[in-house]
Amino acid sequence: MEIISNPQELQTLCLMLRSEGKKIGLVPTMGYFHEGHLSLMDAARKQCDVLIVSLFVNPTQFGENEDLDAYPHDMERDSILAEEHGVDILFAPVRDDMYFDNHSTWVEVPDLAANLCGKSRPIHFRGVATVVTKLFMTAQPHVAVFGQKDWQQLAVIKRMVRDLNIPVDVQGHEIVREDSGLALSSRNVYLTEEEKAVAPNIQKGLQKMRDQVAAGESDAAKLKQDLAAFYAAAIPGSIIDYIEIVHPENINILKKVEDSALCAVALQVGKARLIDNLLIKV
Ligand code: PAJ
Repeated sequence: MEIISNPQELQTLCLMLRSEGKKIGLVPTMGYFHEGHLSLMDAARKQCDVLIVSLFVNPTQFGENEDLDAYPHDMERDSILAEEHGVDILFAPVRDDMYFDNHSTWVEVPDLAANLCGKSRPIHFRGVATVVTKLFMTAQPHVAVFGQKDWQQLAVIKRMVRDLNIPVDVQGHEIVREDSGLALSSRNVYLTEEEKAVAPNIQKGLQKMRDQVAAGESDAAKLKQDLAAFYAAAIPGSIIDYIEIVHPENINILKKVEDSALCAVALQVGKARLIDNLLIKV
């Protein structure tokens, strides 16, 4: 496995690989790998000749009071794991190589960024869409794999690729969880033992909501209220950022659950802001 930090070097190499007819796969990450990241690498590995994983904690998607500086990292462990999962190139640029001091070009997908995480993190998806565009231009992938845990992020990137005619096949991959049901996240390291013990109730609550829908409840306000009450009891001390029921593709808020709906939640549990979602099909 080769480690490249210079974007120009990667781009030159990838343009050459493309001209040789090689199929390039990309998995963008911010590092501190867990089984969720690794499953994306395995899925991409099967479909390409050259697998590139990017590891870059992108400053432009973090708000002022967020955990940019505290974001966990372990480059040595990450490189070993990447190599074990068949990664050919680990792209790990430094901030100054990715952004000029006077960087002034942004990619925005406001329609899809209005709700959920976009509401509580106003510049987040602008930062994500911009860095993913830069990664696509640099690594020149044919296919890129993202996790459904960040469902809204995936929707934003799919729309961006469609709107801007970017020739990348953007694929979503299912959420990888602990046996307890807790969705894997680099931020789970912020949880204390007590918090970790109750955090699986995030997913349990979503499943309860799905059962309620199966039993005939379709009023989104009632479903959200019941889930909030469940979280208050089952995850003491947690602060709900949002509980929303939205259209899975356009992320518009739904009043009734009639067809397919995405229930997405974000909760502050101690120091960790945790997100999860469940697709509900009626
Ligand atoms: P990061 O949080 O490191 O996640 C990298 C990829 O792993 C994303 O596509 C995310 O959805 C996926 N992922 C995270 N947890 C997962 C899980 N439990 N199961 C399956 N997939 C999971 O998302 C980002 O980085 C950044 O926003 C990025 C796209 C790299 C842009 O900076």
